Amino acid sequence: MSEAELQVRPGVERVDDAQALQTSFRQAMRRLAGGVALVSTVHDGVRHGMTVTAVTSLTMDPPALVVSVNRHASAFDALVLSGRFCVNLLTQQHADLAAAFARKPDGDARFANGAWRINEAGLPTLDGSVASISCRVHDLVEYGTHAILIGAVEHLEIEPQQPMAPLIFLSGQFGGFWPLTA
Ligand SMILES: Cc1cc2nc3c(=O)[nH]c(=O)nc-3n(C[C@H](O)[C@H](O)[C@H](O)COP(=O)(O)O)c2cc1C
Repeated sequence: MSEAELQVRPGVERVDDAQALQTSFRQAMRRLAGGVALVSTVHDGVRHGMTVTAVTSLTMDPPALVVSVNRHASAFDALVLSGRFCVNLLTQQHADLAAAFARKPDGDARFANGAWRINEAGLPTLDGSVASISCRVHDLVEYGTHAILIGAVEHLEIEPQQPMAPLIFLSGQFGGFWPLTA
């Protein structure tokens, strides 16, 4: 790129030092609004789950999604060993559950609150979720502290009620979504 093309916007913070990059990347990602979900599984008869925002669709054909999971998370081994998980997309009614699934106690105790049942795919499903998407782990890609689980969708339950009130996480806070209407 020629000097003529390179333009630095005044007033915008630029970061390229490795350690500062990590801190600033965290700050940048806090500015990305994310839908909140609980990932749940069962292994050796014990339920495990955790709160995630790093979940997105991968492809519609075949239906598949990806979720990025910290390899030190209490649920990680169970997710990998069971080879199956359910992504429960939360509503604004579920902010307390989202907080509870990200702190102690872990394991089965996390399921003490919420309308949980075992669905036809044999996975813990939260009634009242916007949607519950049951997946088989197709592949796993490790990178740094995390692993991306590729989930092949096997079973779906979708809340028919409209309009939705999805739970959104932005800048460390739970909130909602309001469409821009004319
Ligand atoms: C709103 C929110 C979103 C989160 N998103 C993720 C995520 O996408 N991936 C992840 O590995 N951890 C995520 N976490 C953190 C995990 O929920 C939490 O660290 C995890 O449950 C670890 O705790 P544990 O080892 O006690 O289970 C998120 C936490 C919160 C509160």
